[in-house]
Amino acid sequence: MARIFITGSADGLGFLAARELINEGHQVVLHARNAQRTAETKRKLPQAEAVLTADLQSIEETNQLAATANALGTFDAVIHNAGVYQAAPQLIFAVNTLAPYILTSLINKPKRLIYLSSGMHMQGRPNFENFENGRISYSDSKLHVLMLSIAVARQWPGVYSNTVNPGWVPTKMGGHGAPDDLQKGYETQVWLATSNDDKATVSGRYFHHKKERPYNSTANDVKLQEELLHLCEKMTGVAFPNAL
Ligand SMILES: NC(=O)c1ccc[n+]([C@@H]2O[C@H](COP(=O)([O-])OP(=O)(O)OC[C@H]3O[C@@H](n4cnc5c(N)ncnc54)[C@H](OP(=O)(O)O)[C@@H]3O)[C@@H](O)[C@H]2O)c1
Repeated sequence: MARIFITGSADGLGFLAARELINEGHQVVLHARNAQRTAETKRKLPQAEAVLTADLQSIEETNQLAATANALGTFDAVIHNAGVYQAAPQLIFAVNTLAPYILTSLINKPKRLIYLSSGMHMQGRPNFENFENGRISYSDSKLHVLMLSIAVARQWPGVYSNTVNPGWVPTKMGGHGAPDDLQKGYETQVWLATSNDDKATVSGRYFHHKKERPYNSTANDVKLQEELLHLCEKMTGVAFPNAL
């Protein structure tokens, strides 16, 4: 049995991954944006160990979320799943780029980290010149999480850090008409969080439907990765712990 923490798990792929992990016998801590969503999530999945509350738009609440998660003990895996798509650029920046950085830096190191990116990261660029004003696109933010995941894999050799493109699936974000398989949209995260398969116990990789796939090679640029970490530290006041 593994203990897993999943951000943004009141709905969509985060919720579905949590439900699947619980069905498989794992212990799961969920996360929702406010007290109402927390209560709804507890009602939907009463077998969850806990549902933590924090609006990831707020650096302060995100810092507090890490402290609350740490108070529950160390996790075997953390799935950085929460995300927004059709939203103001500053909100996308806070939730998709800064929150995973803060939580990665502050939550006790788990054995495995999984980051939700998107095929749209291919069109993304680092866009560091707009960090001060937060004017970045969804694609940029999904390139950022991939860069973060690869930087973590490089700096923390004892941790499996991987990225998932779930496909375009029919959640609140994907919309009713999304063409890809919903189940395939969360089973890769579940597999990476728990499986001892050789193919799942790797690091710094990018997966779609349990298979490694090509990705935007900008994410491999160590200088850009370091600049991302530096700028995120500057924006949040949270230092990235380099040493293992
Ligand atoms: N669906 C797709 O086609 C698709 C494609 C590529 C990548 N992805 C990625 O997959 C991940 C999951 O997406 P999804 O399709 O499951 O989306 P979703 O159904 O919209 O779920 C996103 C979850 O994140 C939570 N969240 C959003 N903003 C938050 C905030 N400020 N504070 C706390 N929680 C917040 C949402 O809370 P509420 O429920 O309260 O809104 C929701 O539970 C995202 O990172 C997304 O970018 C999805």
